[in-house]
Amino acid sequence: MELGLTCARCDARGRVEWSSQPGALEAALAATDAFQQALQRQWSRLVHAPPEPVELTTGIYLLVLPAPRRRGGFGRQGTAEQIDVAIVPTTELADHPDLAGWVADTRPRGGNGDHRLPIPGNGRPPPPEAGPGGLHTRRDVDRFARMVAWMHEDGAEIDRRCHEVRAVSQQLLESYEELSLLYKFSARMTVDQPRARFLGEAAAELHQVLGLSWLTLQLADDEPRLGSLAGYIHTVGSADCPEAVMERIGRDLLARQFGATGPQVLESRTIEGAPQLQRLTQQVLAVSIRVGERTVGLIFAGDKTDGSPMSNLDATLCSSLASSMSIFIENVMLYEDVQSMFMGTLHALTASIDAKDSYTHGHSQRVAMLGRDLARACGLDAATADRIYLAGLVHDVGKIGVPEAVLSKPGPLSGEEFELIKRHPEIGARILGDIPQMRDLIPGVLHHHERWDGRGYPHGLRGADIPLYGRLLGLADAFDAMSSNRAYRRAIDCEAVLEEVAACAGRQFDPDLARIFTGMDFTTYYKLLQSHHANAPLRRTA
Ligand SMILES: [Fe+2]
Repeated sequence: MELGLTCARCDARGRVEWSSQPGALEAALAATDAFQQALQRQWSRLVHAPPEPVELTTGIYLLVLPAPRRRGGFGRQGTAEQIDVAIVPTTELADHPDLAGWVADTRPRGGNGDHRLPIPGNGRPPPPEAGPGGLHTRRDVDRFARMVAWMHEDGAEIDRRCHEVRAVSQQLLESYEELSLLYKFSARMTVDQPRARFLGEAAAELHQVLGLSWLTLQLADDEPRLGSLAGYIHTVGSADCPEAVMERIGRDLLARQFGATGPQVLESRTIEGAPQLQRLTQQVLAVSIRVGERTVGLIFAGDKTDGSPMSNLDATLCSSLASSMSIFIENVMLYEDVQSMFMGTLHALTASIDAKDSYTHGHSQRVAMLGRDLARACGLDAATADRIYLAGLVHDVGKIGVPEAVLSKPGPLSGEEFELIKRHPEIGARILGDIPQMRDLIPGVLHHHERWDGRGYPHGLRGADIPLYGRLLGLADAFDAMSSNRAYRRAIDCEAVLEEVAACAGRQFDPDLARIFTGMDFTTYYKLLQSHHANAPLRRTA
């Protein structure tokens, strides 16, 4: 210690371990039974009353020092069993009348004969030299005590700040965990991806971050706006429970509105009437997924894998993810609403076009379905197949610009009438050109009357120059036209139509597409055709 004091670590049993090189006097004093007994007697005072100087015995003062700080460790005194002290011998040591008794007890361990500490005034040799500061006065002790008090104050301040730093660090850690989890979730949050897989991956991420034995995400089965997600259930981890049982537990928790007002951590034994849950877990964490005022789902989970109790951070992270899932599910619902309205409008539009000719009732819907089936049979991805379905629905939208009398004329068309009919692909393409979300459908609309041999219209494109959408829909369109009653002829039976398709491969149709098409199953198509014929409006007689 820079004040010139001898420092040591003492324990309740009076043992001394030097922290700095002691003077011969301090070393001799500390080795005495009297010193150790005094230390034991005064121990409680030393532990509980720093930084006041404690007079151990006449002429010897101890100043309790703040404990040294170590990396990662704080605290002023590590344990009550050990304290750090400065040993301050004073001039009173030589003058006190009781000193004789004190000295009489001074016998070094294992020594023989009279090794009593020599003290001046007793007619013996001068005392051994004291530590670096020598013998001190009582005033020195007070001065040292004030300095040590400042050290304690500084230590307390450092402790307080360290505590604050730890608290902030913990907050940062928790915020990081939360942000990291939400970032991963939001980065993948788009409504046009497989939704169940996305929710399942999010549940797995939460399960892993929280270190839970198991975690289940369950959505309500009585919420129609959830669409295909209604009744969805996904469990990650080792629940050791059949899915049907887990589903019943989840439905029960949903009915009880667990977690509806925020995350709940409960001892399962406190939940009445839930024996299956009690067998499954000791603690259960539950938080509901809400859209508006409605509970549409629930996240519930059991026990930490390391056996520790669930923490506030666990509940917070679970709640944050549930909130994000709520947003995702609400977006899915809104997206489905818009899609449903869009498709309804589109069906109404195409039905009104088909209705211009009673013979083509349901034609657009059937072409759409055939086009999508053919796209799937060709191995095109689901998104492309869905776009081809839309293109099929609107492929004849340009007929809106063709006189109804021409469209439904029962007899052969004149050259002028046929020219009017031939305009409908370009009219349709212009209509769609004004709708940004449907511009990718234009090739199907514009080119569905092109032929593989180049004798089609409107542009007379040949072979692979014809856009794929046009080739697919051209085939579907021709097939449906042959399979349906028309003003100028009766429907042709399926086998004959397929023979005609095969015969026209390489002339009217893309030969590869024709080969795939003739191998398709048309059961659903014919059911739809029958339904449309049964519901077709009465034919006009004039
Ligand atoms: Fe057409």
